[in-house]
This record gives sequence, structure tokens and C-alpha cells, in this order.
Amino acid sequence: MELNTRLKNVAVVGAAGKMGRGICLLMTDLIANLQLNSPNKLGYKITMVDVSDDALSGLLEYLRSQLRKYAEKNINNLRKAYASRKDLVENGEMIDEFINGAMLLPRPTTLLEAAKDATIVFEAAIENIDIKNQIYATLDKVCSKDTFYYTNTSSMPIAELEKVGGLKGRIMGVHFYNPPPVQKLVEMIISKNTRPEVKEAAYEIGKMLKKTLIPSNDVAGFIGNGHFMRDGLHAIGEVEALQKIGMKMYEGIYALNRVSQDFMIRPMGIFQLIDYVGLDVYQLILQVMKKHLNDKELHSQLIDEMIKQDVKGGQFADGSQKDGFLKYEKNRPVGVYCTKEKKYILFTENNWTKAIDEKLGEVPTGYQPWKALLSDKGKDKKLEAYFTSMKSMNTTGATLAWKYLLRSKEIAHFLKNSGVTDDVENVNGVLMNGFYHLYGPVNKYY
Ligand SMILES: NC(=O)c1ccc[n+]([C@@H]2O[C@H](COP(=O)([O-])OP(=O)(O)OC[C@H]3O[C@@H](n4cnc5c(N)ncnc54)[C@H](O)[C@@H]3O)[C@@H](O)[C@H]2O)c1
Repeated sequence: MELNTRLKNVAVVGAAGKMGRGICLLMTDLIANLQLNSPNKLGYKITMVDVSDDALSGLLEYLRSQLRKYAEKNINNLRKAYASRKDLVENGEMIDEFINGAMLLPRPTTLLEAAKDATIVFEAAIENIDIKNQIYATLDKVCSKDTFYYTNTSSMPIAELEKVGGLKGRIMGVHFYNPPPVQKLVEMIISKNTRPEVKEAAYEIGKMLKKTLIPSNDVAGFIGNGHFMRDGLHAIGEVEALQKIGMKMYEGIYALNRVSQDFMIRPMGIFQLIDYVGLDVYQLILQVMKKHLNDKELHSQLIDEMIKQDVKGGQFADGSQKDGFLKYEKNRPVGVYCTKEKKYILFTENNWTKAIDEKLGEVPTGYQPWKALLSDKGKDKKLEAYFTSMKSMNTTGATLAWKYLLRSKEIAHFLKNSGVTDDVENVNGVLMNGFYHLYGPVNKYY
């Protein structure tokens, strides 16, 4: 079946979730544009399945408002496509026409069986193996034996989903990053059985969506979480080590967050990133990886304790950051959680952060914030000089950062040596495109 024909009948399962709604938007815009340029405009639909009616009605509002932004950006193409339509003159009329056409595509439903005609299914349901298995078992019963399945799982081996669902090579991982409409990176994971035509269609769709596609092998956690989980565990380990030499745990969290953001020039500190992802999600992915990789190290008592105390991070419905390791005001960190006192210690209390900053010492010579270097064409030379200066320093901050950089590099090599990727360049690619690092962990600087 031609891809354009296959795209006539798409389903998104878990459509109202964080990832599902983004995939719904991407696919609605893509298919609405295909429809616009197709002589036979009829017959396209996107079945959007989720378990809650309320969430699905919110989804439609979200799609309508986002499609307006897409259409406004795409006005030149819309003018071309509607050139023969004498009834459409103003930009606003064309934008409304496009949105009205696009909004005929979504078929929201709480019935999974409604996806029976789908020839492509994007699955972004909650990261729970039993629920995903149930979804695939049902879909396999009601859909054609030619349907292609693209799962967004962050951690589960594709081969396992394939086996339980009986999907025989018709599933692969198409791992969008959050939020899918904004993030360029998609990790592409084929299992040993994935059929070439399933892979080809996924790559073709990825290209149509103008995504950066990086292959990962089918090993729990893949490249992104394979690095991120271990990177986070390294920071937690350092906090525990600092405790042994007299630093309080919350002080250590503050210190490692600063080291990973400022000293290592990353877009955000590691504890802020774990908060963004959600401590419960972080814990869940660790559990899945630990089970599949049979690696006891993939566990953190601190994360377990935080969750026990109901501190989980993640986002509110309006996208603002919930408190986690750090407390946030207007999405900026203002304090650190103390598990012993079961409360946040604000940065402003008794100037404690100043004492930790002094302990860490100055950032290395040549430091510029991540944002300043991001679009700097001369960043390569600047980073080289910066890391050379870091190497010669023996302050606590520089020493912690240096050790952290080497650990990140070690993780990248481990991912290659343990078969998660065929090339460390893929790890660099995932970290630079999905985590917005300025440099990959395997580089010429150190
Ligand atoms: N959030 C992230 O940063 C992120 C990034 C990449 C991949 N992922 C992966 O994407 C998937 C979804 O994650 P999310 O963060 O969007 O979760 P989410 O909790 O925001 O959304 C999951 C959705 O699945 C729905 N759902 C639950 N059971 C269902 C069922 N039986 N049938 C249909 N829908 C059902 C829920 O109602 C919810 O709307 C997971 O596999 C996750 O690992 C998440």
C-alpha cells in the first residue's frame, strides 16, 4: 500500500496525553496539508482514542488553536493551494478554510475498537506494560493484519510489545520527545523482526514532519533514557558522596544542579531536568530498565524516598513546573527539597547558597551561559578553551564537573559497547538534538 493511501486512516491511542496530543497535532497538520494538495480530498480520518471524554474535548480545543498558528505560518502555501478559490480572498478566510478542513479529520473516541480501519497506529498510551499489551491485543483483533504500529514507549523493548500483541514485525518505536510538535528529535527503534516496509514508512513520515531521526537499537531505555537515567544516577551518587564529607543532602542537590548547568554549560541542571520529566516517570523508566537489563545499579533510594514523600515534579495542565527536587516560582528554581525536614529550603534563607557557591569556586575562565553560546558560530573554539581551563583547575566545582563529563562520556561508550547503538555519534546526536546539549559526550575537548 502506498504511504499516501495508508495515511488516509491513522489512529492515535492515548491521544489526550502529553505526547498523544502533540502527535495528534503533527498528524492533523500533515494530513490536512496532504488533503489540500490531493485531487481526491475525501476519505482521510484520524481516530483519536483515549479513556476520558473530558480529556478528548480539551484535545479538540487544543488542536483548533494550534492549527491556527500553523496555518498562519503556512500562509504562502495556503494562498497557492487556494489560488483557484475565488470565494477566498483574505488571509483570514484561507486560514479559517484550512482549519475547518483540518478539523474534519479528528474522530475522538473512548472506544479502542473505533480504530479498526486504521492502517497506521501511533500508540502513546501511559507507560504501563499491561495497558499497552491490552491495547495491542485488542487492536490486533480488530485491525487489518497489514496495520503498522508505532509506539512512543520510552523504555520498553519493542520486541516485547510485538510478542505479546502478536504483531509479527509490524511494530517499531517512533520515540518522539516532549513536546512532539516542538522537539526535533525522534528516536527510531526497530526490533529484530520489524519489517522493512514498516521502517520505511516511519522514516518517510518522520521526514515529512521535518524531524531529526536517529536510530537506536531495541534495548530498554534506548539511547536517550539509556544516557539520561545513568547521568541522573551519577549526580545522585555525587550528592550522596558529598554528604559523607559533611554537606547536607539539599546542599549537595543545589551544588550538583549548578555544576551540571553552569560548569557543564547545559540548558538546565540535572535535578531541574528530572523535575521536568517527573520523578515518578524517572523511577518508572529506571524500574523497566533494571528489569530488562538485569542491572541492580539502575535504582535510586533518594528518588524512592522523594516519591514516598509525594514529591514528584512534572507539569501542571498549563505547562508550568510542579515542585520536585527544586521548588519553582514562575518556572524558576527558588529552593531545594530536604527529605529530612520534609520541606523546601529556600535559596534566600540564611544565605546558604552563597556558602555552597563559594565552596564550588568560580566557573572556569571563558565561561558563557548556554543560551549565549547556543547560536554562537565560534562556540567550538570557545568550548575548547573553556574545557582546557576547567582541566587545569582544582576547585570543587571544576573537579565535580570534570568527573561528571568523563562519566557522561563513559556512559556513551557503554551504550555503544552494550549494543544500544552502533555508533557513539548517535549518542551525541540524541543529546544535542533531544537534550539540547551544546556538545556531545564524546568530543575532542576532553
Ligand atoms: N512525557 C514524556 O516526556 C515522554 C517523552 C517521550 C515518550 N513518552 C512516552 O509516551 C507515552 C505517553 O506518555 P505521556 O507522558 O504522554 O503520558 P500521559 O499520562 O500524559 O498520557 C497517557 C494517555 O494515555 C491514556 N490512556 C491510559 N490508558 C489508556 C487506554 N487503555 N487506552 C487509551 N488511552 C489510554 C491516558 O488517559 C492519557 O491521556 C509513554 O509510553 C511514555 O513513556 C513520554
